[in-house]
Amino acid sequence: MADIFKLKTAFMTPFIRFLVKHPDLMHSRLFLKAMRVFPEKVSKTYDEKIAQNIIEYQMALLTGLNQINNKPQKILDLCTGTGFAAFMAIEHFPNASVDALDQSSEMIKIAKEKAVKNSVSRIHFNEGNAAELDYDDDIFDLVITSNAPIYLSEAVRVLKISGLILISFSFSGEAFVKAKKNISAYLVENNIMLLEIENIGKGAYILGQKLEKTQFL
Ligand SMILES: C[S@@+](CC[C@H](N)C(=O)[O-])C[C@H]1O[C@@H](n2cnc3c(N)ncnc32)[C@H](O)[C@@H]1O
Repeated sequence: MADIFKLKTAFMTPFIRFLVKHPDLMHSRLFLKAMRVFPEKVSKTYDEKIAQNIIEYQMALLTGLNQINNKPQKILDLCTGTGFAAFMAIEHFPNASVDALDQSSEMIKIAKEKAVKNSVSRIHFNEGNAAELDYDDDIFDLVITSNAPIYLSEAVRVLKISGLILISFSFSGEAFVKAKKNISAYLVENNIMLLEIENIGKGAYILGQKLEKTQFL
């Protein structure tokens, strides 16, 4: 069987390198359309694929979650897919509740079924667009996102001051670490101070903290 991580790394790394330097591309119509069509097609086999190499798949996110000591109560998981990061977050933070959204109705359907099957009530799965969030400003203690495009200005808008953002990828980790300067500058533009960026296994995590604009001057 083909190694999903080797394939992803080979195909995705050049693309990710490009996106890291040109993040505005994630807002282009073509990109947004591709992100609406593709997940619906892969949703049915998605969990099966990640289960083939679950240890590797969760390593970067798990390491990132381990760095968080401020006991977040209110967490938002963006582009949750079938709920991979949301389920990990509630295990990690037993007093937290998680809002988890994805624009794919098929992915959300599967995530909801898993929550019911496992009697999980602390995750609220909803369809939604990460590029246009339907939440008030400054309400989450932690925003997480795994293996997905980042719509940073929206993620930061809904994050409380001093709140944390954890971005993780299970593949192409080196591409992120090599682009540390670009990533840090992009985060600062959005009022996020980079706390850590680490290559973990084949992936990477990026941890940042929202500060007041004046704290960057
Ligand atoms: C590769 S999957 C990752 C799912 C999950 N976070 C994980 O790590 O397994 C990417 C997900 O991002 C979602 N997505 C992409 N663009 C989105 C957007 N603008 N708003 C909400 N979800 C989006 C897709 O529907 C897809 O489910």
